[in-house]
Amino acid sequence: MEFKHTSVLLNECIDALNIKPNGVYMDGTLGGGGHSSIIASKLNNDGKLICFDLDKEAIDFAKTRVKSAGQVYFVHDNFKNYEKFLQENGILGLDGVLLDLGVSSYQIDNAERGFSYINDGPLNMCMDADAKVNAETVVNEYSKEDLTRIFFEYGEEKFSKKIADAIVKARQIAPIVTTQQLADIVKKCVPFSKKSSGHPAKRIFQAIRIEVNGELDGLREFILNCVRKNLNKGGRLAIITFHSLEDRIVKEAYKLLSSDCICDKKMPVCTCHHKAEVKLINKKPILPNEAELTINPRSHSAKLRVLEKI
Ligand SMILES: C[S@@+](CC[C@H](N)C(=O)[O-])C[C@H]1O[C@@H](n2cnc3c(N)ncnc32)[C@H](O)[C@@H]1O
Repeated sequence: MEFKHTSVLLNECIDALNIKPNGVYMDGTLGGGGHSSIIASKLNNDGKLICFDLDKEAIDFAKTRVKSAGQVYFVHDNFKNYEKFLQENGILGLDGVLLDLGVSSYQIDNAERGFSYINDGPLNMCMDADAKVNAETVVNEYSKEDLTRIFFEYGEEKFSKKIADAIVKARQIAPIVTTQQLADIVKKCVPFSKKSSGHPAKRIFQAIRIEVNGELDGLREFILNCVRKNLNKGGRLAIITFHSLEDRIVKEAYKLLSSDCICDKKMPVCTCHHKAEVKLINKKPILPNEAELTINPRSHSAKLRVLEKI
């Protein structure tokens, strides 16, 4: 299947990163290389771009597209392990970091990858083909209580318990191995009137995907560490999120980093002596405009938050 992904908030991200031709940039979520190819094209031969992706297929595709006068590194790893790469390559600071979180359209649309509740495929959902736990393991081996918790926490699904019950009953008869089998079980658990807010299986697939890929794990720590230890003064961090769970983590980490005081509001005087380490470039998140929403409806839930190290 051809690799297709339309980059979200592309111009907004490039503007936000304020790219210096000789700067050092990191794209933690390379995907189809849409953002990276523009970053790379703005670098001169002193510039560097480090691109991470958990998905080998994404890296192989993006390599054909991301061209630069500067040096481009492609790293098949979780961006949360970025420090190891910087140390091994003697890279001291970063002038800009981009995260465009979640999955690419290619991953969703390629039924074989098992992310789609519309096209049938094996229950997989791994960004990294070498991952040990896949969606089939979660659905068939997790306890009813763990499934309920995941659906509630990562999918914000009201019918979590009912859906977990139905999965456990179904798997006692035969293992659940395809995305369509799972989607059908979920559909039967969600009352018809509630189905109007998108596909009934959407939240459950989101929850399982987050669990399989550990999408929320270490995100806050990554932001704090990267800003404090690696971002150069004047360097920018731009993060696009696609759901409220990720956005909340980003928003709260940015708030902590940009606050002069983090004392409890009830304290009469400041005792924390915390100092803002960054300034927020946009107080409210940047959202896709009408034109982008028309061309790429998948961008509808995107939110871009940008900070600058001071
Ligand atoms: C939304 S796509 C990025 C699209 C890209 N910005 C573009 O314009 O083509 C997200 C990509 O990030 C990868 N990804 C998600 N979380 C990751 C992580 N923690 N570490 C490395 N790659 C990750 C996914 O495999 C996917 O390819």
